[in-house]
Amino acid sequence: MERTLTILKPDCVRKELIGEVTRRIQEAGFKIVAMKMTRLTKDTAGGFYAVHKERPFYDELCEFMSSGACVPMILEKENAIKDFRTLIGATNPEEADEGTIRADFADSVGENIIHGSDSVENGKKEAAYFFAESDVVANKA
Ligand code: PPS
Repeated sequence: MERTLTILKPDCVRKELIGEVTRRIQEAGFKIVAMKMTRLTKDTAGGFYAVHKERPFYDELCEFMSSGACVPMILEKENAIKDFRTLIGATNPEEADEGTIRADFADSVGENIIHGSDSVENGKKEAAYFFAESDVVANKA
């Protein structure tokens, strides 16, 4: 079983879409095995997105990600990484396929509702950024 790390971003929380987005995630067959609500600081957001440090939008991204509460989750499913990226759609909502979470709810490439890990390796690193292995519940449902 593969894992991915998602974050319901501050725009998702502000728009009161936690329930709707979580429903879509579960309906698509993902099991939530860890979940919390937290608020990142600019520094903790910066650490999470450190790989983008040299990119022109880095400051804006850290500002946005620390602008309100967010909801990180670890999800389990076969082919979780690829299937989750399909479920959420392209980073830029204008390029996202119809019916995807970003196409339906995101405003822009920056404020795009939800994050999904882009590889198994990054998923593991990202999950460890928010959760200890002891936070992950046994998935017997
Ligand atoms: S991807 O999916 O990693 O290839 O996407 P990428 O285009 O590299 O973007 C990485 C994350 O940066 C965010 N982003 C932006 N934020 C603010 N302003 C601008 N212009 C911008 N462009 C990209 C984007 O939402 C990606 O966030 P995550 O959480 O990784 O999806």
